[in-house]
Amino acid sequence: QEAYAAEKERTFIAIKPDGVQRGLISEIISRFERKGFKLVAIKIVVPSKDFAKKHYHDLSEGPFFNGLCDFLSSGPVIAMVWEGEGVIKYGRKLIGATDPQKSEPGTIRGDLAVVVGRNIIHGSDGPETAKDEINLWFKPEELVTYTSNAEKWIY
Ligand code: PPS
Repeated sequence: QEAYAAEKERTFIAIKPDGVQRGLISEIISRFERKGFKLVAIKIVVPSKDFAKKHYHDLSEGPFFNGLCDFLSSGPVIAMVWEGEGVIKYGRKLIGATDPQKSEPGTIRGDLAVVVGRNIIHGSDGPETAKDEINLWFKPEELVTYTSNAEKWIY
């Protein structure tokens, strides 16, 4: 199999305060890891409300914007950057539909969440948002470039 050396695709993934409080950090990380994606940045942080507003700026007109920002800033969040071929789109697939009532079993939200306001995880919805969100949450030097031994068995 040809080495995966093209432009590395990266996405921003956050475990929201409900996922952290429920002890789902390792469960969620493990699903991305076992798939074959590579963790290139991770930190635990309590976002301020202003920061949450920046993260969700696209939704500022929406009816749940304020509640969503309160929720994201209500406790520790695990902020991560995952890398791999197709990771933006497939990461969303691992996560499942926004509303856990509609997400399939086998997805993170399908298996682990019940209502949309407590859907435990966020993932960038496209290449542009991925870039913006990575830049918002991380400094360039917080992203680690490395080769894992498994890579030649994944690509
Ligand atoms: S998506 O996946 O971006 O297309 O989903 P969207 O429906 O646009 O929702 C964007 C974010 O808003 C959250 N959301 C809600 N929160 C609370 N209450 C209601 N009703 C609701 N509907 C949507 C949804 O979880 C998305 O947040 P993230 O953190 O991106 O998952």
